[in-house]
Amino acid sequence: MMSPPSYRIAVIPGDGTGPEVIREALKALKAAGTRENLLFDLQHYDLGGDRYLKTGEILPESVLAELRQVDAILLGAIGHPDVKPGILEKGLLLELRFRLDQYINLRPVVLYPGVETPLKDKGPAEINFVVVRENTEGLYTGGGGFLKKGTPQEVAIQESINTRFGVERCLRYAFDYCRKRNQRKKLTLCGKTNVLTYAFDLWERVFHEVAAEYPDVTTDYGHVDAVSMWMIKNPEWFDVIVTDNMFGDIITDIGAIIQGGLGIAAGGNINPAGVSMFEPIGGSAPKYTGQNVINPLAAIGAAAIMLDHLGQPAAAARIEDAVRKAVAGDIRSLASGKMGKSTTEVGDRVAGYIAAD
Ligand code: IPM
Ligand code: MN
Repeated sequence: MMSPPSYRIAVIPGDGTGPEVIREALKALKAAGTRENLLFDLQHYDLGGDRYLKTGEILPESVLAELRQVDAILLGAIGHPDVKPGILEKGLLLELRFRLDQYINLRPVVLYPGVETPLKDKGPAEINFVVVRENTEGLYTGGGGFLKKGTPQEVAIQESINTRFGVERCLRYAFDYCRKRNQRKKLTLCGKTNVLTYAFDLWERVFHEVAAEYPDVTTDYGHVDAVSMWMIKNPEWFDVIVTDNMFGDIITDIGAIIQGGLGIAAGGNINPAGVSMFEPIGGSAPKYTGQNVINPLAAIGAAAIMLDHLGQPAAAARIEDAVRKAVAGDIRSLASGKMGKSTTEVGDRVAGYIAAD
């Protein structure tokens, strides 16, 4: 008999409500694994604010070396109320993205039937697109510095680094993804060519160059300010949007809110040739920590994106279908604290649907 496929998954619950949502995501993962005959070898890592406060360690090299060996990483949330903003975000989350060269941040914006959107007259038919965010360059590299810090003459420079190599691999991923996603095959470059005339000149040139290899993909361009407006006014215009790191960060929060909020928005930090990491987009939500009221659907959705990435689309679809069922019936609101159900109950319901159908 053939032995079932087995995956080594590193689990980083992280800070705040991270452990609570990851607990539910693992229920869904295991339920889908049971149905599809997949095995998961889960290794938990206690990275995050508590470990940092106790030991001063953020991401030890030995841990990074172990993470390089797994098939995927499932991450809860990073950010601790007692740690100065930036330390864990840069030292852990961005460090993982950079060091594992997860150069794509893939963020689907899909409104499920039954989920409330703040957009008037828009529904699941209109809100269904994906943002491909560059994930290792731009304003996020840490390039720049201070001059005369703390004086009246202080200068603060934060540089946007855009390499031909980094831009091209991101655009190629976006074209490939767009071609495979569905029959629409429309790729929108989101930039700011009218002001950022170096960075987005490069992006635009490479975009057109690569587009020549994808004659079946329709290309479009929008400045980031206009794209932000259209995502609200005409979200149906979009199929796949590709953009740089900073713009991608901003527009995916708009995306999250129009798909029902941070309670359901999930994404993947992808290295197509390496180790990828999947996470709910929302933060650690310290004010809800330990109350069992946080919405676990985003983390559950991250597990589904992970399964898809691991080459198990049937298992991914089982989780997605279960989430669709849960949001169509059982849950009053996707807002944490207003679900009318506890974190545990929502997770149990989703896992129950996966086991039952
Ligand atoms: C995100 C977050 C992170 C980012 C922060 C926490 C560093 O906002 O994943 O979108 O800016 O990328
Ligand atoms: Mn963000």
